[in-house]
Amino acid sequence: MHSKSNSFSSKVSIHTWQSKKVHGETIAMMTGYDFPTAAALDRSGIDGILVGDSLGMVVLGYDNTLPVTMQDMLHHCRAVARGASRALLVGDLPFMSYQASVAEAVRNAGSLLQKGGMDAVKLEGGRERAAAVRAIVAAGIPVMGHIGLTPQSVHQLGGWKAQGKSAVAARRLLEDALILEDAGCFSIVIEAVPVEVGQLISGRLVIPTIGVGAGIGCDGQLLVAHDVLGLFDRFTPHFVKKYADVFSQMQQAFSEYITDVKAHRFPAPEHANSMDPQEYRDLVREIEMLESEFESEENYSNRLH
Ligand code: KIV
Repeated sequence: MHSKSNSFSSKVSIHTWQSKKVHGETIAMMTGYDFPTAAALDRSGIDGILVGDSLGMVVLGYDNTLPVTMQDMLHHCRAVARGASRALLVGDLPFMSYQASVAEAVRNAGSLLQKGGMDAVKLEGGRERAAAVRAIVAAGIPVMGHIGLTPQSVHQLGGWKAQGKSAVAARRLLEDALILEDAGCFSIVIEAVPVEVGQLISGRLVIPTIGVGAGIGCDGQLLVAHDVLGLFDRFTPHFVKKYADVFSQMQQAFSEYITDVKAHRFPAPEHANSMDPQEYRDLVREIEMLESEFESEENYSNRLH
């Protein structure tokens, strides 16, 4: 079993993140969706784990994040909360859990903390989310914003496209970031924008920015764990750095297992439990006695017919 202790002892909070920005220390964040990944991330010293609704694609196999529900999120948030005790835990508010009304946004944000064990929530969008952010923050819940490529708006954006490429679009993103900061966000994810835009926004905000495909100028970096591990083979965005090829390793391990089973190499004696030899001899004797009783009863009933 994994122990929850690790060598980086004190709990990371939103204040730790703010102090990292002030001191020019880069924040390292990654997504995580389950207990073992959360434990491994936590013990590696990650500053934050995002239980992203990207789980809909990389764990549940959907084509996009839209089908993900609050129930899905809570299920995975709880697993991550059981595995990580140190990192700041951020739970993603899924599609339609915060867009319809501010009251619903507050209730669902509260659930991610109360039932999911998260420390903070994330929602997508710019100025149009200011009211929801204010209300959630007023309820005592830290909120992370998310601008640029916002996957829940994939149909409105016309696909998985980089954002903020024109001066007008980049300026609008900066305005959105400033509005979200003013509304009370403790941090903002900036996704898939030119490096210049990531740097410009990060330089103008007091709160830390976390870039995913937004270049080196952000205050922190975030990637999807399945991309980093090479566990998601449908497509890998160009801004991802793949550190392992776990999918191939899994396939290799599974085919070795199948070969062993079919060749009777598994289970070997060391993978099985054995009976005490005397108990086994007793068992064999008892079975032989039962069989001979059964045979004589059968002979008797045959004679009667
Ligand atoms: O759901 C997610 O993992 C995300 C990040 C990629 C920003 O929103």
